[in-house]
Amino acid sequence: MSPGGGGGERQVFLWLRFVYQSDLIHYLGLSHHLIALNFIIITFGKKGAWSSAHVKVTDTDFDGVEVRVFEGSLKPGESLKRGLVFIHGGGWALASARIRYYDELCAAVAEELNAVVVSIEYRLVPKVYFPEQIHDIARATKYFLQPKVLQKYMVDPARIGISGDSAGGNLAAALGQQFVQDANLKPKIKLQALIYPVLQALDFNTPSYQQNSHTPILPRYVMVKYWVDYFKGNYDFVQAMIVNNHTSLDVEEAAALRARLNWTSLLPASITKHYKPVVPTTGNARIIQEIPQLLDARSAPLIADQEVLQLLPKTYILTCEHDVLRDDGLMYAKRLESAGVDVTLDHFEDGFHGCMIFTSWPTDFSVGIRTRNSFIKWLDQNL
Ligand SMILES: *[C@@H]1O[C@H](CO)[C@@H](O)[C@H](O)[C@H]1NC(C)=O
Ligand SMILES: *[C@@H]1O[C@H](CO)[C@@H](O)[C@H](O)[C@H]1NC(C)=O
Repeated sequence: MSPGGGGGERQVFLWLRFVYQSDLIHYLGLSHHLIALNFIIITFGKKGAWSSAHVKVTDTDFDGVEVRVFEGSLKPGESLKRGLVFIHGGGWALASARIRYYDELCAAVAEELNAVVVSIEYRLVPKVYFPEQIHDIARATKYFLQPKVLQKYMVDPARIGISGDSAGGNLAAALGQQFVQDANLKPKIKLQALIYPVLQALDFNTPSYQQNSHTPILPRYVMVKYWVDYFKGNYDFVQAMIVNNHTSLDVEEAAALRARLNWTSLLPASITKHYKPVVPTTGNARIIQEIPQLLDARSAPLIADQEVLQLLPKTYILTCEHDVLRDDGLMYAKRLESAGVDVTLDHFEDGFHGCMIFTSWPTDFSVGIRTRNSFIKWLDQNL
């Protein structure tokens, strides 16, 4: 991690303390730990609707799903704007389109691209579980794509993208796959931009999971717990999943999928380094039996069929070196490329998970600003 701003590091570590404290809350049985953590995040950072000379911000709902809409101003000489659907991260359980971090990111995109950004306030764990989050974002996005709605917001139907970070990148990738398989859906999505996305739950021992298993912000066990929570699963499985006991060789259900995330063939030697695959001979077959959703491509877009991948639009994937999820992104980029999709991989050697939202005081990391600029520049050139 390479903090650029003075108070940034302190702020991040305070935030991490909340993560561990919320575990304590859970242990003590005071409340669902995610509700407690989310309460802390939102209490300190929620922002009301606002407007500036360049961006108009409105809270409304699209077919019953809450959204925050950021309307950039029309570019001189143009009659329509570009559109972007944005899905915030937070382990399917935390944060909000209305917290300062996401509000600022979406406002910057709307202003710099003269675009309309729809940031979806989908429902979170523990209110709803997989696949309800996907249903929420699909419903809101389909509503937005209607001709009369696009017309109202002056959005060009040929220039609409979907994007999200972390668990939001997971949902954006799932939505992308759902939409390309929906023949009735018009207009088509022009591109997808995935920021350090979560893409699979079958291998928690990719080189990046091994390398960053104790990296702050997102240690491996926290990511595995987010997965278990997303499926309303049993925490007793977490330790077994960390050693890949849920996808051991004797678990037949996982056998066919293993090749799709075989990082010894998908990733170059500069990434795999000295790391060895963790494929136990025997494990715990009960895990997949109790949580079959682990093998569902809607939760793990990386394992989708090649026939689905080849339908996907132009794709941007941002990855960070200091992130357990780095290889999820790298493997998806590789599978998409092999399927003939035009992919831009944007890797940050000094990046860490979540860095793009830490761009303003007191969490103003230089890599946060560089990742954000790079993401916006790619959108500007491709949307
Ligand atoms: C993984 O599975 C093996 C074989 O069933 C078992 O011996 C081992 O204790 C398990 N590890 C964990 C962490 O659950
Ligand atoms: C993974 O790829 C390596 C190298 O190509 C190969 O030797 C191995 O059999 C593959 N494993 C699976 C499960 O596909």
